[in-house]
Amino acid sequence: MRELALHILDLVQNSLEAGSTRVLLEIIEDSSADTLTIRVTDNGRGMDDATRRRVLDPFVTTRTTRRVGLGLPLIDMSTKQCGGYLRINSAVGRGTVVEAVYRHSHLDRPPLGNLAATVKTLVIANPDTDFTYRHQVGDAVFTLATGEITEILGDMPLTHPDVIVWLDEYITANEANLYGGVQHENC
Ligand SMILES: Nc1ncnc2c1ncn2[C@@H]1O[C@H](COP(=O)(O)OP(=O)(O)OP(=O)(O)O)[C@@H](O)[C@H]1O
Ligand SMILES: [Mg+2]
Repeated sequence: MRELALHILDLVQNSLEAGSTRVLLEIIEDSSADTLTIRVTDNGRGMDDATRRRVLDPFVTTRTTRRVGLGLPLIDMSTKQCGGYLRINSAVGRGTVVEAVYRHSHLDRPPLGNLAATVKTLVIANPDTDFTYRHQVGDAVFTLATGEITEILGDMPLTHPDVIVWLDEYITANEANLYGGVQHENC
């Protein structure tokens, strides 16, 4: 079982490989609908309709180093095993929205995993990407945008060791707040 954080890395990686300069990652936990939604919206090159329909087939990839693309088929499979679905909306030259929906309470739903490490890595590894993270649990929301952070930091680079430590603590604390201050290792 893969933690959802790994699928999230795959999705954002796809957006970056598609040449996106702006990526929005949303995680929405809705207990009344009993859903956990992961949505990645980008402004990359997009996919035409035929490609979009075929990408769930593990033999489709635009990679030249390896024939098989596994990111989306694996996510598709894991959502279906948990009473959910994967939906892809895309427009060539405009961008893509990939939405993975899980039944929140499903016994087989993988845990989110280490979101703080995942988000921190995405921000630091892609300092030139306008990256926004938004996590909603019921009415509580935590958002983090690269643009805001770089503004606060001024001349200090995102990759400065002090910034990396601060980012980790900042995200971890805010993530815990979403669950009423209780840290959930396996939410
Ligand atoms: N956000 C996106 N924008 C544009 N094209 C995308 C996007 N996400 C996926 N694709 C297209 O769908 C194909 C399949 O994606 P998938 O993640 O399943 O495999 P991959 O990225 O090619 O390989 P892997 O994820 O195994 O490293 C990609 O090669 C790319 O052509
Ligand atoms: Mg991929």
